[in-house]
Amino acid sequence: MSTELADSLVSPAVHADEARIHALFSELRRTSPVHWTEPADYRPFWSLTRHADIMEVSRKNDVFINSRRLNLMTRAQEAAAKKSGGKYDRMYRTVAHMDNPDHREYRRVTTEWFMGPGVRKFEAAVAALAEESLDHIATFGGEPFDYAREVANLFPLRVIMSILGVPREDQPLMLRLTQEFFGADDADLGGGGGADASQRFDLLAQFFDYFTAMAADRRKSPRDDLATVIACGRPYDGPMGDLETASYYAVIATAGHDTTAAVTAGGLLALLENPDQWQKLRADPEKTRGAVEEMLRWVSPVKHFLRTAREDYRLGDTTIAAGDGVALFYPSANRDDAVFDDPFRFDIERTPNKHLAFGFGGHMCLGLSLARLELTTFLRAFVRRVGSIEPAGDPQRIHANLVGGFKALPVRIGLVH
Ligand code: HEM
Repeated sequence: MSTELADSLVSPAVHADEARIHALFSELRRTSPVHWTEPADYRPFWSLTRHADIMEVSRKNDVFINSRRLNLMTRAQEAAAKKSGGKYDRMYRTVAHMDNPDHREYRRVTTEWFMGPGVRKFEAAVAALAEESLDHIATFGGEPFDYAREVANLFPLRVIMSILGVPREDQPLMLRLTQEFFGADDADLGGGGGADASQRFDLLAQFFDYFTAMAADRRKSPRDDLATVIACGRPYDGPMGDLETASYYAVIATAGHDTTAAVTAGGLLALLENPDQWQKLRADPEKTRGAVEEMLRWVSPVKHFLRTAREDYRLGDTTIAAGDGVALFYPSANRDDAVFDDPFRFDIERTPNKHLAFGFGGHMCLGLSLARLELTTFLRAFVRRVGSIEPAGDPQRIHANLVGGFKALPVRIGLVH
């Protein structure tokens, strides 16, 4: 396959063009599902586009590791990170960057909270924030407004900040940091995809300072919140280091916000484009849970993660050599017709729906219960209170090859309650 196609696979602009990126993925799934990809500005890697291959690699955490190369970065960005004298690495080491045994130990610090009563305790708070979003929609009185900016970006941010214990007055700072961190390839969001990794580094430094102070506060005066669970976590029965503590907060603030915002906006766009599905959902709100799963599959906000093979591995007909990078393209897995009937149809009643929007295996999204709680709570409130939805202009997607989303989604929404 040509360099042009390889360049398209890593291009933030192409990932924002749904028709183009899905045409490319479909072609790869059919003709070259484990594809050696050599873009001009990136170190080469294998592109995986089939659901089964992505599951197989994700399941083998001890062969395909995370710590070596987690996301696509240009050679220039990698060089700049190296030139920072390792400062970048000293500020950001999340569970996603770790391999076993560290991964197991650090993930254990919060799994109980995320999978159990921790998240359930927030049900009422999440419901109140969803109602607040609907009250805000009511203020537009059926006139056009930007749903991405006014609703989809703010609701998950407020949830995640209240869960972390970040006060309301600091939320604009968090919004800027998270959007610029993930939007660093999009000129409109303060990035521009330049060679300069120092911009991401500056953002990290701001996150790091903010969260280090927060951890110190929780260790001094523990509260009943996630920030305290992390600050007082004991991997290997010892205290959490500053690097791992601040990184834990930063990954939750970033991973927990933009992804859910993208599904909130992208889910509404899917309903706008498929009015029969919107009517079906209005007629039977019991379909909300299924609708959320289909929105997750449809939007697949996380575009890829990378792994590195620790040893030679035979995947189908291809040998992946020790040291090779492997990109897992989740949106492609979620349109694979070997798993999904009529995968390009948005169907809120799709069952089964074995999408990989949350990844798979040992690194599978830590926040998936919270994300599902947020999305179903929000959609329930939306279905109960909204009577009509209409597009009011062209949606604009964020140019990003890591986490997609919307810069603008102009809509008109009529409320009944
Ligand atoms: C719609 C919302 C979300 C989507 C689509 C999503 C997707 C993902 C994906 C694809 C991964 C990588 C999985 C893998 O490597 O197999 C991941 C990891 C992760 N996510 Fe999410 N996520 C969402 C929401 C959240 C939320 C709300 C939080 C936290 C509050 C969160 C925290 C994390 C963390 C900490 C990891 C790293 C886990 C590890 O490496 O062990 N995510 N997520």
